[in-house]
Amino acid sequence: MATNRTLTILKPDCVRKNLQGAVIKQIQEAGFKVVALKMIRLTKDTAGGFYEVHKERPFYGELCDFMSSGPCVPMILEKNNAVADFRKLIGATDPAEAEEGTIRKLYADSKGENIVHGSDSDENAAIESAYFFPKSEEVANLA
Ligand code: CMP
Repeated sequence: MATNRTLTILKPDCVRKNLQGAVIKQIQEAGFKVVALKMIRLTKDTAGGFYEVHKERPFYGELCDFMSSGPCVPMILEKNNAVADFRKLIGATDPAEAEEGTIRKLYADSKGENIVHGSDSDENAAIESAYFFPKSEEVANLA
């Protein structure tokens, strides 16, 4: 059964390009509600912890360097079928392969600097949300 939350991060390239507002607008216009939001700067260690699952991949070091290169904006988003719908909205990991109109196609430069993260499963959405937000920082009821 699909759950209704996903975790996104507006990555350091998004913040450097001053695109937070444009990207959040597109996310909201697609029907997502922001349940939690903060701007933080990850360290190499906290970026590494978040991307632990990619530890053995050749791009892991580069990914941790990039994700700790400036502030980023993690958010918990709510919508029916949130994980799948959000991945459709952001497009493929590599912007060159992303569909027209998707966030990565519009704004991303490369596979590494691709503007935004989106959870890939309901289970990871819950794990990743807890990585950034204690329950006390989530809006309890958006109605
Ligand atoms: P994200 O959705 O945040 O999840 C893992 C990230 O690893 C991915 O987005 C990319 O930014 C990054 N990534 C995946 N493949 C590569 C690659 N070949 N080179 C650099 N970064 C990559």
